[in-house]
Amino acid sequence: MTAAVSGKKELHMQRIYVHPLPVRIWHWVNALGFVMLIVTGVHLRYPGQIGLMSFESAVRLHNAVGFALICNYFIWLIFYLFTDKIRVYHPELNPIRHYRNAMKQAMFYGYGIFKGEPNPHHVSIYHKFNALQSMAYQIIMILLVPIQFYTGVLLWDVSRFSGTVELLGGVRVVDTVHVLLFIFFTVFILIHPYLASLGHTPTAHFKAMITGYEEVEEEHAPGAALKRGLSDDEPRAPGDHERPDHCRAEQEPPRAALQRIAESVNECTAHAQQQSDQGDVIVRREPRSECQRVCEDHQAHDGCNGQR
Ligand code: HEM
Repeated sequence: MTAAVSGKKELHMQRIYVHPLPVRIWHWVNALGFVMLIVTGVHLRYPGQIGLMSFESAVRLHNAVGFALICNYFIWLIFYLFTDKIRVYHPELNPIRHYRNAMKQAMFYGYGIFKGEPNPHHVSIYHKFNALQSMAYQIIMILLVPIQFYTGVLLWDVSRFSGTVELLGGVRVVDTVHVLLFIFFTVFILIHPYLASLGHTPTAHFKAMITGYEEVEEEHAPGAALKRGLSDDEPRAPGDHERPDHCRAEQEPPRAALQRIAESVNECTAHAQQQSDQGDVIVRREPRSECQRVCEDHQAHDGCNGQR
């Protein structure tokens, strides 16, 4: 746990593991690659007008980076398809709740943040995205990025793919889609880091995308309700209102399950204590976060209790 000061309030932070290694590798390779695609793409669009490299080099680099990013995309896709972390991308199927959460988040970004109001979204392992991020990332990763790659491959060798290109309306149509998405991604790459800088400190989300660990206020951390000794009928921790339907109030775990979770959270604390008694600070922090992560996973599963 660390302490940070925000305004007059001292925040007690707890670290939770939200960005697994494959996602972090994919993300930073992807970010660098997109910057290179944008720079080389501008060279292709305005040949001879930007002096960073020759037209031929821009073509070669654009193609090579494009294919590298297609391979890189599969790190992201395969990781999410074959782990339960795909839950962070589960859409909110209740349109009213989605609309309400999205509006709350938009109000926060457009207004509340300037008045120092708290972010309405509290990160947890399976809810690392707020309603706006969730919607944007789904559309981008499942629709826009694949379309950009696909149109890029078609334009890479128009004669080889002439049948498909004609089917889609010809080179002009394919090229227009590719360029419109290029404009979208150029704007996105400006707005996305800005929004990512609106954490509890400007660098908090960037650090999280490097280390994997997001810092959350202790009162919103997983297990906070249990640590406060809430009973079954009392409201849960503030972040819990964002659980999906199948995990919500009417299906809260029975008292025995809550007890078991409380015990596993306590085991975590005991484990951390044992490590700190050895006086090794580095050893103490890592196993604690690791252990915490296991407890949180355990808790998330128990919270749902398989009741879908
Ligand atoms: C200069 C470039 C970029 C920077 C500095 C940056 C920064 C970040 C940061 C700090 C996060 C974690 C906070 C959050 O969840 O919002 C993040 C997440 C994410 N970014 Fe970026 N980003 C960049 C480029 C891109 C590009 C080009 C794409 C897609 C085309 C992208 C897609 C995503 C996605 C999908 C996530 C969520 C990843 C996951 O957990 O599954 N980013 N980015």
